[in-house]
Amino acid sequence: MSSELSPIDKAKFVAAKQASSYVEDGMKVGLGSGSTAAWLVKCLGERVEKEGLKIKGVPTSSRTAALAREVGIEVISLDEAKWLDLTIDGADEYDGNLNLIKGGGGSLLQEKIVATASDQMIVIADASKQVETLGTFPLPIEVIPFGWQTTKTLVEETLIGMDVLGRKVTLRMNGDAPFYTDEGNHILDMHLNRIGNARQLSLIVNQIPGVVENGLFIDICDVVIIGFGDGRVESR
Ligand code: 5RP
Repeated sequence: MSSELSPIDKAKFVAAKQASSYVEDGMKVGLGSGSTAAWLVKCLGERVEKEGLKIKGVPTSSRTAALAREVGIEVISLDEAKWLDLTIDGADEYDGNLNLIKGGGGSLLQEKIVATASDQMIVIADASKQVETLGTFPLPIEVIPFGWQTTKTLVEETLIGMDVLGRKVTLRMNGDAPFYTDEGNHILDMHLNRIGNARQLSLIVNQIPGVVENGLFIDICDVVIIGFGDGRVESR
């Protein structure tokens, strides 16, 4: 599976491969979204096919659900699973405390619900995702379409006086049209450059009417597995 990969894909693959070894027979596993998580789903599919691994997967997006089914993983809903042994997902940024920015692919809501309903969350990433302070990657927030422009104004006003370096907020687009999440919501991307107090920002943003959830994952991730282009893997 790993032959002739670019260094970035090799890094994602080796992290995913290592994380897949944490999955044991009978586990209920949250399956993340994005390109790194897609490698994980493929690695697990290979174990299902070659080793007869028996797991139930709870996908965090319609795209992951389709891929999981394609590679032979039994897919169940979170409500069927009730609680998960493990979730493995990618991230857009992680810091030294293993706090994350997620949602670059627009799946942060399902990702956060699923990760929170798991005994353990493992993040898989290439080394470029490591940051000293969160915020270089625009922080996504999921908002309901009703009155989204008013919600955006309220978000911008809330940022005044907060420990951030930028305050630009943009509606995520899909070509000429607004992007829609799997839940039928929009995404506002917050261009903050630096998030001085991620816990505080997360709590305050989620108080704003119209905001469904934000992409800060605070105290949710237990381990980050970092892959490198030369095939090395490290854990934090
Ligand atoms: C999707 C996510 C992804 O995990 C995140 O964007 C990382 O994606 P990739 O592995 O493609 O870099 O949060 O909502």
